[in-house]
Amino acid sequence: MKKNSIIFAILGFIVLTSCKNESTSKQSADEKKPTEKWDEGLVLMANSCFVCHNPDTECGERVAPPMFKVREHYLDDETSKEEFIDEIVSFVQDPSEEMSYMPGAVNNFGLMPKMNFNKEDLQKIALYLYDNDVSSDEWYEKWENYQTAQKSNDTKKSVNYIEEGRKVANQTKGVLGKNLLSAIQKNGVENAIDFCSTKAIFLTDSMSKVLNTKVKRVSDKPRNVNNKASVEESTYINAFKIAKKNGGELSPKMQEKNGKVLAYYPIETNKMCLQCHGKTNKELNAKTLEKIKMIYPNDLAVGYGENEIRGLFVVEMQK
Ligand code: HEC
Ligand code: HEC
Repeated sequence: MKKNSIIFAILGFIVLTSCKNESTSKQSADEKKPTEKWDEGLVLMANSCFVCHNPDTECGERVAPPMFKVREHYLDDETSKEEFIDEIVSFVQDPSEEMSYMPGAVNNFGLMPKMNFNKEDLQKIALYLYDNDVSSDEWYEKWENYQTAQKSNDTKKSVNYIEEGRKVANQTKGVLGKNLLSAIQKNGVENAIDFCSTKAIFLTDSMSKVLNTKVKRVSDKPRNVNNKASVEESTYINAFKIAKKNGGELSPKMQEKNGKVLAYYPIETNKMCLQCHGKTNKELNAKTLEKIKMIYPNDLAVGYGENEIRGLFVVEMQK
């Protein structure tokens, strides 16, 4: 073993084992005041970073180090506020191993993916992180209150949105798969190209009508540019990719926004998909590729292998 790999292995070991003695103090949150104003930095961090850096995720389920660990590595007695903000922001804008202060985390989870966050938002997040000790009991209580407040906006508490959304995603997947297969069987792969679209799917489940459900598919490597994942959706895709790489569970994610519930489910490839999304001149033959290029000149959705994260189902439900 090279010297470097030994160091990485040791650091990795420390990161892995250090999970055990973290004190995640879960005090019961006091009744929150309805008028409470949340720090913008906290809200931004919760929405942009906690998909991966979540303070509540159990050790074995983690896809990234919790934020207080990150803070620890970037902050010591000599760090000025400006330095701290600058270093966090420049890493997030362009993650690289050379810039990393956490080689053990890079080793465990892989390098943080590059996502196109807004620079001003990142500065606010970094400032918040500088000002707030996110490992303290005091902060944790605030975080719990924030979550409780998010949840108590929920009027239809009895609806299990993750499960309702999952039904919709599965139903859509089923219809898509069936249409696609029969189109391929009837007309061959290159003539089935027109069928891989969610537009025509009519949701039959009655609950999905009550919740006024919408479903779409998005990808970080889209074929149809209209299916391009937003920055936020990309964070979910990346989180699923990291979890997958680490053999973790791909549990769906959910958030509330403007009176709506958004739920995210991973879409994975199988062998069948590769006929249209696989490697060129392997599973994806020249004739099919030609047809794809004709309809989708900016296609990015090729080069996949089996069992990879291809994108997300995004299910939007009315509360
Ligand atoms: C899709 C998952 C994901 C999201 C979302 C994410 N990160 Fe990360 N981040 C990681 C992973 C994985 C690591 C550990 C590997 C590494 O250090 O590159 C990491 C590490 C870091 C580090 C330490 C880098 C180092 O090695 O020194 C910082 C700083 C950081 N993240 C900041 C942020 C901030 C701020 C946000 C929100 C704006 C954010 N991250 C969102 C996955 C994510
Ligand atoms: C017969 C060819 C074909 C097969 C097989 C196929 N797709 Fe597609 N796929 C397409 C086309 C064409 C589009 C663009 C549809 C559109 O315009 O909305 C697409 C779009 C998608 C999208 C939406 C994001 C994007 O890139 O535009 C996802 C996700 C997707 N496919 C996943 C899969 C998965 C998973 C499988 C296997 C289970 C699969 N596809 C099999 C042709 C195919």
